[in-house]
Amino acid sequence: MCGIVGYVGGQSALDVVIAGLKRLEYRGYDSAGVAVLADGGLAAAKKAGKLVNLEKELVSRPLPAGSTGIGHTRWATHGGPTDANAHPHLDNAGRVAVVHNGIIENFAALRAELAERGHALRSETDTEVVAHLLAECHSATGDLAEAMRQVCRRLEGAFTLVAVDADEPDVVVGARRNSPLVVGVGEGEAFLASDVAAFIDHTRSAIELGQDQVVEVRRDAVTVTDFEGAPAEVRAYHVDWDASAAEKGGYDYFMLKEIAEQPRAVADTLLGRIDAAGSLTLDEIRIPATELREADKVVVVACGTAYHAGLIAKYAVEHWARIPCEVELASEFRYRDPILDHRTLVIAVSQSGETMDTLMALRHAREQGARVLAVCNTNGSTIPRESDAVLYTHAGPEVAVASTKAFLTQLVACYLLALYLAQVRGAKWGDEVRAVIRDLAGIAEEVERVLETMEPVRELARSLAAKNTVLFLGRHVGYPVALEGALKLKELAYMHAEGFAAGELKHGPIALIEPGVPVVVVVPSPRGRSLLHDKIVSNIQEIRARGALTIVIAEEGDESVVPYADHLVRVPATPVLLQPMVSTVPLQVFACELATARGNEVDQPRNLAKSVTVE
Ligand code: F6R
Repeated sequence: MCGIVGYVGGQSALDVVIAGLKRLEYRGYDSAGVAVLADGGLAAAKKAGKLVNLEKELVSRPLPAGSTGIGHTRWATHGGPTDANAHPHLDNAGRVAVVHNGIIENFAALRAELAERGHALRSETDTEVVAHLLAECHSATGDLAEAMRQVCRRLEGAFTLVAVDADEPDVVVGARRNSPLVVGVGEGEAFLASDVAAFIDHTRSAIELGQDQVVEVRRDAVTVTDFEGAPAEVRAYHVDWDASAAEKGGYDYFMLKEIAEQPRAVADTLLGRIDAAGSLTLDEIRIPATELREADKVVVVACGTAYHAGLIAKYAVEHWARIPCEVELASEFRYRDPILDHRTLVIAVSQSGETMDTLMALRHAREQGARVLAVCNTNGSTIPRESDAVLYTHAGPEVAVASTKAFLTQLVACYLLALYLAQVRGAKWGDEVRAVIRDLAGIAEEVERVLETMEPVRELARSLAAKNTVLFLGRHVGYPVALEGALKLKELAYMHAEGFAAGELKHGPIALIEPGVPVVVVVPSPRGRSLLHDKIVSNIQEIRARGALTIVIAEEGDESVVPYADHLVRVPATPVLLQPMVSTVPLQVFACELATARGNEVDQPRNLAKSVTVE
């Protein structure tokens, strides 16, 4: 949801900022813009559409060279994706420029107030008011950081702001409330960015900013205060991945690379969490065992793909740890007055750690006295910072907007958590826990095997490029997998795609089946819960009798589905609860290939942004 970069140092600010924006384009791609301080003044350029449009504009109308600058790539909220609404926004004198991520909720009142004082506002954005307010405060104080503090005290909503002022050519100032902002500290240079990926080519030393803080960066100094001006505590950290992790590495799309990285991501997420004896060691869960024993329910809150991981976690938590588990869309959670207290364990699942709905849900849970444990992929992000404990997934940076490797690692983390709860609460014996861990430890290899057999899935996807609808059916843990398969297809192929619990079919959705409609069916293992398996085999027959084109995902050796499958996708046999680890992968490949076949942009689907930092 908008990417922001700020730079001050010895290099060309424009080059550094543009390169940083390229790394942040996954956050939004409705427009892009830059501003540099040069020759005692400020020069800016901005353009609707992707960053490439701005780059073309800079070739035909170059900006003067300067070593302090800011940039922005936008996911539009207030005001359409036009040149005028693109950031940076400037004050009327053209001396102050500001970029913003978030929503300023009281902008209408501020706008009216500024208009009364004679300011001419030129865009429809909520952001522009900040440029004008900063200019007023700066002319009164002569200090951009102080001006930023004064302005922030007047703003309501969520915002990361980064600003420069032509009167302070060696300074970039940022502010953060609810939206992400990190500082990169280099040799004689400093960076501000929504995500470390923007400066990873230059430095791996980062500083995590807290809530309601203002930062002033110079070439050799970083000063952080709260909105009142009191010095603030910050956490410095080393980014533990390098620039190559944020590059395509020979793949056509980040999504393809990230799908291929799944075996490693799964293995990395298990690393260090299993001891030599094969037992679980989750030292990072700092919630005392007594509290985990006393917890009387688990509530998982998350959005989108992370929510689907949560739905699967429910099966594992209830089956292994024997504790009731609810799963809720974070965007709905706090509005329905959920029953929470100190005996509720809330698990907030988020790849980015910045999803506003999930953040608000966890804040609500903590206000009610619940303990919150984050499952997160982004070190230092807001959701783990505000949680009681965190279990990091080690997927590495996920750049493609559609989540793949983050999902599989979220599943691993949720399985580990469920087992840990089972261990602590005595719901499973040590050797039972170790047996599941052995299965989990073998899963990375099984994912690798699935990846090696995906060519027929790609071929099938290409053959369906002209279809309008694809339906997905599943039962038990296969149901959330069906939902995830449908979500991937919607967001990438822009097709009507829906996931159903197969048992619900006859209660309505079967009316959607007409000759030729492709239906993907995720078949549970015939072992263990064979009743479930047999029921879904009946469901396949029911839809096939009505003309559906059946695409059946079933484990190796399950021969009972063969007569009813127009297309059969084999996945390795796994324990029932772990099947989503292998059955999701063909659905990711299917959606990616269908999107390509339909000429869609795989990494940057329309209307979307990777990190949803507004509600
Ligand atoms: C879908 C997708 C989204 C995210 C959702 C939550 O492919 O990526 O549905 O899963 O926006 O994001 P995080 O996990 O960052 O909280």
